[in-house]
Amino acid sequence: MKTQFKFLLSFLIIILHLRIYAQVNEEQKINDLLSKMTLKEKIGQLVQFSFVNSEREELIREGSVGSFLNITNPKEVNRIQKIAVEESRLGIPLIIGQDVIHGYNTTFPIPLGETASWNPELVKKAAEIASWEAASNGVHWTFAPMVDIARDPRWGRIAEGSGEDPYLGSVMADARVRGFQGNNLKEKRNIVACAKHYVAYGEAIGGKDYNTVDMSERMLREVYLPPFKSAVDAGAGTLMSAFNDLNGIPASANYFTLTQILRNEWGFDGFVVSDWNSIGELVNHRFAKDKMEAALKGLTAGVDMDMAGDEQTGNVYLPNLESLVKNGLIKEELINESVKRILRIKYRIGLFDHPYIDSVYFKQNFISKEEREKVALQLSKESIVLLKNEDELLPLKKDIKSIALIGPLADNQEDPTGPWSTAPIFENVVTVLQGLKNKLQSGTRINYLKGCNINDDDRSEFDKAVKTAGESDAIIIVVGESRDMSGEASSRSDIGLPGVQLELIKRIYETGKPIVVVLMSGRPLTIPWLSENIPSILETWFLGDQTGNAIADVLFGDYNPSGKLPVTFPRSVGQIPIFYNYKSTGRPPDEKNKFTSKYLDIPITPQYPFGFGLSYTTFDYKNLKLDKTSLWKSDSVLVKIDVSNVGDVAGSEVVQLYIKDWFSSVTRPLKELKAFNKIHLEPGETKTVEFKITPNMLSFYDEKMNWIVEPGKFDVMIGGNSEDLISATFEVTK
Ligand code: GLC
Repeated sequence: MKTQFKFLLSFLIIILHLRIYAQVNEEQKINDLLSKMTLKEKIGQLVQFSFVNSEREELIREGSVGSFLNITNPKEVNRIQKIAVEESRLGIPLIIGQDVIHGYNTTFPIPLGETASWNPELVKKAAEIASWEAASNGVHWTFAPMVDIARDPRWGRIAEGSGEDPYLGSVMADARVRGFQGNNLKEKRNIVACAKHYVAYGEAIGGKDYNTVDMSERMLREVYLPPFKSAVDAGAGTLMSAFNDLNGIPASANYFTLTQILRNEWGFDGFVVSDWNSIGELVNHRFAKDKMEAALKGLTAGVDMDMAGDEQTGNVYLPNLESLVKNGLIKEELINESVKRILRIKYRIGLFDHPYIDSVYFKQNFISKEEREKVALQLSKESIVLLKNEDELLPLKKDIKSIALIGPLADNQEDPTGPWSTAPIFENVVTVLQGLKNKLQSGTRINYLKGCNINDDDRSEFDKAVKTAGESDAIIIVVGESRDMSGEASSRSDIGLPGVQLELIKRIYETGKPIVVVLMSGRPLTIPWLSENIPSILETWFLGDQTGNAIADVLFGDYNPSGKLPVTFPRSVGQIPIFYNYKSTGRPPDEKNKFTSKYLDIPITPQYPFGFGLSYTTFDYKNLKLDKTSLWKSDSVLVKIDVSNVGDVAGSEVVQLYIKDWFSSVTRPLKELKAFNKIHLEPGETKTVEFKITPNMLSFYDEKMNWIVEPGKFDVMIGGNSEDLISATFEVTK
């Protein structure tokens, strides 16, 4: 035993030495290269353009550009890389960036939908596949994961993130970074991640994209920063600074967040790229009087690379940094620091070793189409949330004689890929119509009709749709948003069903036939009438390639829906902002008491709460036990709970753990998600689920912004959503 232990110990020491040597060796190489670079060549590394032309080819030869984005043709990538490596003086390779947000050729559910699976392992797998496909097409770097917490569904970019909760957002940030980057960034199939948009972009006033953000440091640190910290801890090589103003200092020139927190507190050693012309936009913020001052403020704050503006706006660093150095307004050391960070990432992703796309490698090492489709289908199924299922209308019987399939998204191969699909292959998208055909025997008649468009007032097919519905045994209506109604620059003031879709549903409802509504959207929609009148409702987000197969599996019971909402569904846009982890206030909302924090004209509860999702079976929670109910600050509490499947079909349940801090020296949310565990239970099966409550889970920023555990009473609350919970109390004594 002793010899084995000795062998293991010496093996680990060797590995550690090798890693340290590699790091030192890497830093040595960076410093050597830096020492050879002219100021012009250093500035070039801080410059990114979005397309190539003859002038920019010349800049590549001069070493005056270090990166491109949106170069989607592998041959073009190799062509311009060849110029950089073989025709410039120092041969520093270009790093090619691309928005690979939820798949490259294989399109997975939008990130908000993936998050609804509460399955980080599967989300990581999808990112791995996206990385593989992107890398084989010449992408080195993805501008993802987008980790912005979003609590206002009017904001279109809620589609790109992981919803409203910092813990869930942190878990998904970790999964996606590890999926994109793999265990070894030098592996040719891996690409470097970019956590964005740093920081607090999702708190834009009114949910209006690019709008002002103003919040306390406590809110910043407790809600908006954790997913970025999680991405950095997972090893993300880059971050992207945001467009928004943050407490009076634009995020792309905010020294406090970009240097004080990111570098000095977190020790991040990668690089920060601006968002598209977000440095140049400091002039629009009226925070810089011209592009020269914008360059000065951006670099000084800690933005290392200037992402191209368009032809009109152009770059800010390229034309201004040299004179800023020559006029003594910026020290060359500051530029050196940014260059080193960028070179560090170029070394880490192996660009100096293999700057060109290695097609032989990808021919020999590629994930099969079957495996990609299998992961896409599983993740799509797990992303679907069953919002309502009155009288167990679902699952439908496969021997049903006739089905009316109606709606503008029922036979649609583009919109289900959602916003920010990268290089989608639309013909690969399985529509709901095709999914039903794949699922049902020829004996079932599928009466398909579009019925209306997504967003106009054409009612010409209404009568025909009502007739089709009347002739069928059951009706499936597929409605929602188009893919360009969420994502960037897509905030909506009214988040109901667009166009005349709701009118069509009401007309069909009059037939009295059983109706299932399938929603496709990039955000929560306000659906009070549907919630009131329609027996079964699925939220399917935008599921990508496997849309129709996943939805058909759920509709006909071949997959028991397990999705849970990563974001609250408001009853009306007037309820916004509405999120689960709100504070008590001095007058906690009380339906029976007018003089409490609420609206006169709408219930205090949301349409559907955070963490909510139904199943075709029922899960029962009992025997919540703690290994101690009194503890010191440094102790942990072991929690056990029995979860049983008391129905007659197998299913998966996301067991969620929330913590409530009864009283504290600063006001705290009524509850906060601190852990979850997705389990699978056969009918009649019971599992004991265990959690460990650590001091960190009880901590918060006190009045002086110290991260502390305060003595006092706490509740641990566990359940299948953020409202139906069973709880137990424990006390931190000192
Ligand atoms: C866009 C987006 C950002 C994206 C970048 C490059 O404006 O804000 O998320 O990565 O530009 O496309």
